[in-house]
Amino acid sequence: KKIVLAYSGGLDTSVILPWLKGRYPGVKLVAFAAELGQGDELEGIEKKAYDSGADEVVVADLRQEFAERYCFPMIRAHAVYESDYLLGTSIARPLIAAHQVRVAHETGADAVGHGATGKGNDQVRFELTARALDPSLQIISPWKDPRFIADGLTDRETAIDYAREHGIPVDQTTKKIYSRDRNLWHISHEGAEIEDPAKEPDWANCLVTAVRPEDAPDEAEVVTVGFEHGSPVSIDGERLPGHTLIEKLNALGGRHGVGTTVLTENRLVGMKSRGVYETPGGSILYEAHKALEQLTLERDLFHEKIRLSSRYAEIVYNGQWFHPLREAFQAFIDRASEVVTGTVRVKLYKGGCLAIGAQSPESLYDEKLASFAMDGYDITAARGFIDLFGLPMQVVGLREAKRRAA
Ligand code: ARG
Ligand code: SIN
Repeated sequence: KKIVLAYSGGLDTSVILPWLKGRYPGVKLVAFAAELGQGDELEGIEKKAYDSGADEVVVADLRQEFAERYCFPMIRAHAVYESDYLLGTSIARPLIAAHQVRVAHETGADAVGHGATGKGNDQVRFELTARALDPSLQIISPWKDPRFIADGLTDRETAIDYAREHGIPVDQTTKKIYSRDRNLWHISHEGAEIEDPAKEPDWANCLVTAVRPEDAPDEAEVVTVGFEHGSPVSIDGERLPGHTLIEKLNALGGRHGVGTTVLTENRLVGMKSRGVYETPGGSILYEAHKALEQLTLERDLFHEKIRLSSRYAEIVYNGQWFHPLREAFQAFIDRASEVVTGTVRVKLYKGGCLAIGAQSPESLYDEKLASFAMDGYDITAARGFIDLFGLPMQVVGLREAKRRAA
């Protein structure tokens, strides 16, 4: 047996290596780590993986693919889950899982494994992707294996003890700790005091890249984002690869405290959970993208696209990235996005970001049409339009008047 493990170097995946070695005698373990822009988390990861029991280690830099082939299609969809969540973890899992399947093929493995718990969304995202891309691979999910629990691994606290016993270095302490997931697009924080929805998060402890709005500079800053066909391509006129563009906006937005949200969300598996999310660059991109869609999309098309986007967000949240429904929605979205080209100026100030100006060669905005001047506009057409558009309401009005008179 040979297993490719989605390995982050964190506690939840580290304990799995020695555990698999113990429970699957003779197993070969490939630790697969994806570079998605998670800061310095990957430093020393190879050594750590070997020390924890890996036989092979594969590290792949997926930042550009993540930005341009996952985050950008999602921006074009303008997907937001439950009004507040820009889907930073949800969008990364299918990419990691897709490459895990590739590595399984390249290393001759017959199974893939992950370190997500049995209570969360991530398990679903990993496993749905593996099923969609190679149904012949076995999926190994230790955190929901009864033998894992029988071996005393029931939570992050017992995992710390287990890691220490097996010589795995851990920097966490047994006091309450945040569960974090970081990539280019966002940082999520769950656990500790965030779990009490009545409490304000302990920002000083929690925030990693963003400042609190109170601590942001007193001077506003304006950034210009360029889009082509619904995807961001430049900042202040400079063309950049997707991951560099997001990184720059993260630094800029983080400095102004932009894009921090706290929400109680509905997990796919049923329970509500509360999280803090830092998505500075993503929030700037969504604000800019919205302004450009407002300028360039025909009304009925725009309205339909808005309706579709919350369903698209659910699909992404639920780990169904490789579902044919997401792909069909994407075809619609991408067709609609053909005209979403132009530049938007966004002002950043004390935690807020506002599109203050947008320009597009595809703009449908006609200043002459929008203004109050009547010349060249057939007012009798408006009267006729209202006669017909209002006819059903008028008919009902007549009936009700007759009823009142009776
Ligand atoms: N609740 C968010 C989501 O489901 C964030 C999950 C974070 N995952 C993690 N392993 N820390 O997308
Ligand atoms: C986990 O349970 O592994 C993390 C949280 C989630 O997947 O929602």
